[in-house]
Amino acid sequence: MRIDILTIFPEMFTSILNTSILKRAIEKKEVSIFIHNIRDYTKDKHKKVDDYSFSKGAGMVMTIQPVADLIEKLKAERNYDEIIYTTPDANLYDQKTANTFSLCNNLMILCGHYKGIDQRIRDHYITKEISIGSYVITGGELAAAVIADSIVRLLPGVLSDETSALTDSFQDNLLSPPVYTRPADYKGWKVPDVLLSGNDKKIDEWKLKKAKELTKKLRPDLLDE
Ligand code: ADE
Repeated sequence: MRIDILTIFPEMFTSILNTSILKRAIEKKEVSIFIHNIRDYTKDKHKKVDDYSFSKGAGMVMTIQPVADLIEKLKAERNYDEIIYTTPDANLYDQKTANTFSLCNNLMILCGHYKGIDQRIRDHYITKEISIGSYVITGGELAAAVIADSIVRLLPGVLSDETSALTDSFQDNLLSPPVYTRPADYKGWKVPDVLLSGNDKKIDEWKLKKAKELTKKLRPDLLDE
């Protein structure tokens, strides 16, 4: 898989791409992630990538030209399954969408900024708009990183059997049950007896029961889906 990320803050991705699962997936060539600096494509003599909004008092808006030129350049090089735009005014991201994205070959993610981007970019290039939650963060970079991470961990060969994405929360619309490690007794705080029993069937039953209890308590909406 290839993911192209279009941003005005490329440096925000340096540590994210050089850490943990994303780093390993890139090293193993399970994914290639390219970070493109939108500012490199502006034809403005002051290197500007934003301008005043025609709607008065609405703050600065990202201009069309640098973004359009960059998207056109990338689209001429390969076909993209989706061109994603990160923005709070969009459908909420979920595991189902991550699963669908993980089956794609080429994804482009445009990071939103300021008070947004000229609507004509959204109308003419964007195929999916995504919000990572009902709150506003300063820019779309963190949202793009969340999306990239959630996709890459699903790619075959990225996680080991032990950490398999199949057992993640949400994969079966259930939250994950609690987990414990040694010691079995920490100052009187005991691990549930069943986990020490060695009985795999009983342990699986306990895990499912706990997962259902937790989901019912914290995310009953998942049980309705
Ligand atoms: N940019 C600002 N807030 C965002 C959000 N909640 N999701 C995606 N992109 C954003």
